[in-house]
Parts: sequence; C-alpha cells; structure tokens
Amino acid sequence: MTMNQPSATAAGDFPLGGDLRVNRLGFGAMRLALGGRIRDPEEGVAVLRRAVELGVNHIDTAGFYGFGDLQAHEMIRRGLSPYSDDLVIATKVGPLLEGGVVPTGQATAGQLRGLVEEDLRRLGRDHLDLVYLRVGGMGRPGGEEVAERFAALAELRDQGLIRHLGVSNVDAAQLAEARAVAPVAAVQNHFHIGRRDDAAVLARCEEAGIAYVPFFPLGGGREPIDRPGVVDVAARHGATPAQVALAWLLAASPVVLAIPGSSSPDHVAENVAAAGLRLTADDLADLAG
Ligand SMILES: NC(=O)c1ccc[n+]([C@@H]2O[C@H](COP(=O)([O-])OP(=O)(O)OC[C@H]3O[C@@H](n4cnc5c(N)ncnc54)[C@H](OP(=O)(O)O)[C@@H]3O)[C@@H](O)[C@H]2O)c1
Repeated sequence: MTMNQPSATAAGDFPLGGDLRVNRLGFGAMRLALGGRIRDPEEGVAVLRRAVELGVNHIDTAGFYGFGDLQAHEMIRRGLSPYSDDLVIATKVGPLLEGGVVPTGQATAGQLRGLVEEDLRRLGRDHLDLVYLRVGGMGRPGGEEVAERFAALAELRDQGLIRHLGVSNVDAAQLAEARAVAPVAAVQNHFHIGRRDDAAVLARCEEAGIAYVPFFPLGGGREPIDRPGVVDVAARHGATPAQVALAWLLAASPVVLAIPGSSSPDHVAENVAAAGLRLTADDLADLAG
C-alpha cells in the first residue's frame, strides 16, 4: 500500500463475538450482484480485491445475493480465496428465493442446515465466521417468532459449522428472544444518517458489546442521506456526503461496524477513506437535526 492510499484500519477495530477482530469499516457485497453497475463477475472480483487491498477484513454477503452469473458468494471465493486468516465473511440465512432473485419466502428451522451447507460449499469454507438469521421482509421489524430458527442455527454453531451468530431486521424484543437461546455476536438492522429510529436496539447492543451493523449505511442509494448539515460538514472536511454519512455512523457508537456497498472500485476507495474522517462535536451538533 502506498502512503496516499486510504486504509480501513483508520476506523479502529472491533472484536466480533469477542474473538474475531475486524476493522470497523467493512464492505457489503450485495451490489456486486444486485442493483449495481457490474455486468461481468471479473468486475466484482476487482471490486472485492480493491476493498481487501485497502484493509477491509469484514465482508457482508448472502447466498441470495445473486442474479444470473453474478453471484456474490462465487465472486468472493474467486476473488479472495485462499482466504487470509484475518478475513471475516458474514452471511445471512432466512429468505428463500424460490426460483427468482427477490426473496419470496422464509426458511423454516428445518431448512436452515441446508442453506448453511450451501453457503459453505459456495464460499469454499469449512466453517462460516458469522451467520445472521434474517427475519421478516423489508418492512419494520417485530412480531415474528425467532427462537425456533435461532436454536437451529445454535445447533450448527455447536457442531462447528458456524463460529458466531447474529440476527438481522429485529426489534428489541426479538433480540432478547434470540439472546435467551444463544449468544448474539451481531445485529444487522436498517439504520443510517437519514433513518435513526433504531436507538433502542443500538443501545442494547452497546450495553452487551454486540456489534451493530447498519444495513443501507448510505441509504441503499435510494433513501436520502443529504440531510441538513451534511453538505456543510462535508465541505469543512473536504469530504463527500457519503463519507460524512459513514463517519456519522462510526461516531454513533463504538459497536457500529459500517458495511457500505458498492459496485465501483472508486467508490470503495472513497468509502474506505471515511475510516479516517473524525467528526468534531460541532460537526455532530450540525448533523443532529
Ligand atoms: N440485512 C439486510 O436485510 C440487508 C438489506 C440490504 C443490504 N444489506 C447489506 O448491507 C450492505 C450495504 O447496503 P447496500 O449496498 O444495499 O446500500 P448502501 O451501502 O447504503 O448504498 C449502496 C449504494 O450507494 C452507492 N454508493 C456507494 N458508495 C458511494 C459513494 N461513495 N458515493 C456515491 N454513491 C455511493 C452505490 O452505488 P455504486 O455501486 O455506484 O457505488 C449503491 O447504489 C449490502 O451490501 C448488504 O451486504 C443487508
């Protein structure tokens, strides 16, 4: 790495599950397959290698991030294996594709083993570092029972197929329900500078030392992150609004791990550079509204 390259290490690190140290600025792989500019798997491989070259060692993916030849798991295996010891790959199970590209159903407890085995095979690993139980649809979390499915994943963890477990798209009651079954290492919920209404779950994670991993950290490319103050703060630091949005997340709590998604090597470098952006108290006050 040259002196001028940004590095994900500038964000500091976090011990996922107590023992997997990851830089707090990571990468979300969904855009390699869905809703991005990539048309050839080799372009996805290049994006992944760029992220790792810049110090990213936490990659978020899922078996259901796929469209034709563009399959996130396959691109990760092709681009990054043999895997370095410090690389943490997090995946999610729950949604079922049932032949399409948009999940239409939810796996039962009995179907989860098959999905985990499929992830192991496609990623080319003998165990998965972190597996989230992804609950519900794209609406607000809550109301759905999680214990039976989480217990099924806990069994796979006990058998050594999975190192740590997480839950995704949960409210505080569902998080408590999962924690009563087995330790939760990470929560992945919808949260960004323009959508901050998950304070209760974030507070629980902070108290318990659970990683809080916001999905759509840049608004998913469709929800506004250009709130009042963002442009001014960005101008003060010579930064971009996307970088301010990521620095705001990292400043929200020491348990937050950012996983911005991108299909562009340039955006990956820009996002990694946010690892070194420190917002001042004045900046945070300007972004508080
Ligand atoms: N658990 C869940 O239910 C769930 C749901 C959604 C996502 N996720 C996870 O969260 C990760 C992140 O979410 P996401 O990728 O959907 O959304 P995101 O990170 O909020 O935003 C990605 C979008 O922002 C654009 N972008 C990225 N960097 C940019 C920059 N520096 N400047 C301007 N635009 C930029 C990308 O376009 P380019 O491709 O052109 O860079 C893309 O359109 C996913 O990859 C996935 O791993 C989880």
